[in-house]
Amino acid sequence: MPMRFPEGFRWGTATSAYQVEGNNTASDWWQWEQAPGRIRGGDRSGLACDWWRHAERDFDLMTTIHQNAARLSVEWSRLEPQPGRWDEAAEARYREMLGSLRQRGIEPLVTLNHFTLPQWVADRGGWLWDGIAPAFAAFASRFVRSAAPLADFWITVNEPVGYLISAYLQGRFPPGRTNPLAFWRALRESVRAHAAAYHAIHDAQPAARVGVAAYLRPVQPADPRLPLDRALASRLDYTLNWMYLDALRSGRLVGLGGLRFNVPEAAGTLDFLGVNYYTRTRVAFDLRRPRSFFVRADRPYDAEMSDADYSEVYPDGLLTVLRAARRYGLPVYVTENGLPDSDDDLRPRFITDHLLRVAQAISEGTPVRGYYHWSLVDNFEWADGWSLRFGLYALDPLAQVRTRLPSAAYYGEICRQNALP
Ligand code: FCB
Repeated sequence: MPMRFPEGFRWGTATSAYQVEGNNTASDWWQWEQAPGRIRGGDRSGLACDWWRHAERDFDLMTTIHQNAARLSVEWSRLEPQPGRWDEAAEARYREMLGSLRQRGIEPLVTLNHFTLPQWVADRGGWLWDGIAPAFAAFASRFVRSAAPLADFWITVNEPVGYLISAYLQGRFPPGRTNPLAFWRALRESVRAHAAAYHAIHDAQPAARVGVAAYLRPVQPADPRLPLDRALASRLDYTLNWMYLDALRSGRLVGLGGLRFNVPEAAGTLDFLGVNYYTRTRVAFDLRRPRSFFVRADRPYDAEMSDADYSEVYPDGLLTVLRAARRYGLPVYVTENGLPDSDDDLRPRFITDHLLRVAQAISEGTPVRGYYHWSLVDNFEWADGWSLRFGLYALDPLAQVRTRLPSAAYYGEICRQNALP
């Protein structure tokens, strides 16, 4: 017997603008890429998957695999390349893309900020600029008004906590800072920016559904018998998974060590929750690592690893985070889930095992309404360049040739049947 999903379940793939469009020259990432040593192997995003000119080629692939939904993002730096200067041609291109999805019966879920900023925002301080919240809300409002007939399903920010850790604490993403206080201030501005955009979007489009995509992972102590491992795991669990989302419920951002910031306008600003799930985190307390806050990442000796040891394959963790997400009482979408697997030998079983956990969560009463696999086609994987291959279709970025992997046909069957065969 096939295992059926609820009527109307959303089946999609997920992408982000910078990773697929190509030539996003007004973005902070474009400048970041130019300096040596920042992207593995000296790779460049370049044409990426050439979506700016030919996204429809990949929309056709979405049709081939029977998707009824797609998650994509728009680049603020294309729509507003200079402060206050709106690019009508870019807006028209995005409307054209959204219209092409609609024509194919594919419902768009549009992210407004996925890891990139216009360079002019970065020049003013990026997420430390006290003008970023109103500027982001103005951009969101204008784009939502223009796209309103074509899209009503929005994500303000993608993985805000992990992104700001990479950008302000680990220095892996622009602006390359490694300063805890800067991280905290950036987090505050991000909560304010989300809240301002949430209200601006609802003003522009009362029927809009607005959420965030949160990277959620179980955080487990390496040795559950050790109190310090347990304490570390529970603090990290709060900080990485729940601190930001709690702020969007209560209007209070509460960090460790007594940090506190009231953002009353953020209270109750989620209509749904997007969950990006990849793997679990196991941590040990290690006195030799003061600069990493005494955290040593640990991995079970028998862990099944994806390409380049990027992530442990751990489907049970998806059930764990979906259960935990019930605390917010919101509809849930799995807005990303996938793995780098260039020879596609792990991916089919990965998809099955994770969807079994989604089905289990639904049967327990968690309102999971959709699943977006990361990703349709291999794309530019940030600091890892082209080295990690997440696509259901492999891509040769120079020739722009796509090769269908067995997973594409398999996932397509699931989308078509609305069931695990
Ligand atoms: C997520 C990001 C996405 C992509 C995948 C592999 O954390 O949101 O852009 O990089 O990881």
